[in-house]
Amino acid sequence: MIGYLAAEGFEEELARELGAPHERHGRLFLAPGPERSAAWAANVWRTPVRLEVRSIADAAAQLRALQRNWALYSARDHRRAALIDARLPHVSAKPIAPFSPLPAAPLGSFTLLDRDTVLASADCASPFPHGEVRFVEDHEGPPSRAYLKLWELFTLSGRWPAPGERVVDLGAAPGGWTWVLASLGCRVLSVDKAPLDPRVAALPNVEHRTQSAFALDPAEVGPIDWLFSDVICYPKRLLGLVERWLAAGNVRNFACTIKFQGETDHETATRFAAIEGARLRHLSHNRHELTWTRLA
Ligand SMILES: C[S@@+](CC[C@H](N)C(=O)[O-])C[C@H]1O[C@@H](n2cnc3c(N)ncnc32)[C@H](O)[C@@H]1O
Repeated sequence: MIGYLAAEGFEEELARELGAPHERHGRLFLAPGPERSAAWAANVWRTPVRLEVRSIADAAAQLRALQRNWALYSARDHRRAALIDARLPHVSAKPIAPFSPLPAAPLGSFTLLDRDTVLASADCASPFPHGEVRFVEDHEGPPSRAYLKLWELFTLSGRWPAPGERVVDLGAAPGGWTWVLASLGCRVLSVDKAPLDPRVAALPNVEHRTQSAFALDPAEVGPIDWLFSDVICYPKRLLGLVERWLAAGNVRNFACTIKFQGETDHETATRFAAIEGARLRHLSHNRHELTWTRLA
């Protein structure tokens, strides 16, 4: 069995992704192994085991015998679960700085399946409790909160553009992503039908074009190190855009937000995931959207 913790509010999306059979406990889904890629999972419990526990103290002792650090995912018997949690070593939930190394200490997850049964996974995919990454926010520089999505993607993947690299930011306004990229020392071509925040537009390494992202010609732009898109559009339209840039062969790395309006377009998400070398995931700063990347 493998455990998949759904991103909050996207349980139905994850259920569909995993298919049958699966067992569900709140946001936690248990499905037969081996581990599968699941875009809507915020965390994956790789080694879940059932522990029969005689008491709160016994539960804490059994967990501590497995390893030191644990995050409680509480789906029922909340008070008892909290009392077990209180007997475990404190795990820091302090916000981190962007671009910092990921926490190295293993972090397990546990839940109570019933009063006397703990489900515990010592090995989890995310080093953050429930896959939630919290940053020390910048309330001065960026003109929108969208910058947190890029900070999260870069910090989790350990990859970001180097100073001097040429990047294109589609759907850039008001300029949160462009601000991040300019702060990294990139040469940014930002494109949006709307203007950038004047403070971002005035940055020396930013060029803004007020036009549709779909009208930008890859051949005219030439070779670029990264293509970013946070354009609000139907997923199918974004797929067409990505396919055009892929076919042009001028882009080393892609990072795009697929935004869903109303129903989740699973079919298009599957087509994005099937692109060679691609990764599709729900970041903790994503709303009803997925982040698609294809990194060199
Ligand atoms: C979520 S906002 C982007 C936020 C931005 N990444 C930031 O960090 O501030 C989506 C943007 O897509 C833009 N947009 C929608 N359709 C577009 C199109 N066809 N071409 C370019 N931009 C478009 C909107 O004007 C809007 O600024």
